[in-house]
Amino acid sequence: MSQIEEEKVLAAKFALERIPSDARVVGLGSGSTVAAFVRELAKSDIARRLTFVPASSQIEEEALAAGLRLSDLDHVEAVDFTVDGADEVDPELNLLKGGGGALTREKILAVHSDLYVIIADHTKPVEALCSRHPLPVEVVKFGRSHTAELLAEALDGEVALRKTRFGIPFITDNGNYILDVKLKEPISDPEATLNQLKSIPGVVEVGLFVGLADEVYVAEGREVRVLTP
Ligand code: A5P
Repeated sequence: MSQIEEEKVLAAKFALERIPSDARVVGLGSGSTVAAFVRELAKSDIARRLTFVPASSQIEEEALAAGLRLSDLDHVEAVDFTVDGADEVDPELNLLKGGGGALTREKILAVHSDLYVIIADHTKPVEALCSRHPLPVEVVKFGRSHTAELLAEALDGEVALRKTRFGIPFITDNGNYILDVKLKEPISDPEATLNQLKSIPGVVEVGLFVGLADEVYVAEGREVRVLTP
């Protein structure tokens, strides 16, 4: 196992210990780090007393394979604790997300969770968001090339339609496209950028999670650092 894979497992184990003892419903974000969390859950007794709400079809498949009891957001009264991953985390714990295309459902789940925690390997903390990755934006299919032009103007960046490894457009769980915006400079004011992009017709959601994370667990080697806002 690579160092990064080991760190994902370490952060996942750490998150498992942080599930509140009175929690009944736990949200599952998406991505490979959350998949590691699901595999740890499958080995633990804690999972038997919990119901899980998955944010994407990817993590739903992982959770079903792990034998977890699932529900959906509209069939639970509250989500006590959600564990998610991130592509980048800034010093204020704002997040860049959407590398797996699940940003819209992840954000909905985050907003409706009492506690929203992020598990990450050592490569995820950055000084400013979009230092290393493009900004994912989920857009409706109708008029997407024109929406892309408005995004490129707003951000002064290059916009690319996300494709699958088969070369066809990637379709989100919501039936939309993802536009990845490669920025010339990292984002200096994530909240302002988020608000600006959300006002563009056709934009469903933006992969900037501002002020949503309660805690971030970053695994570095054999240690886990807990970051709080
Ligand atoms: C899914 O759309 C993303 O927001 C993921 O949570 C993010 O890309 C982190 O993924 P990894 O855990 O695979 O790095």
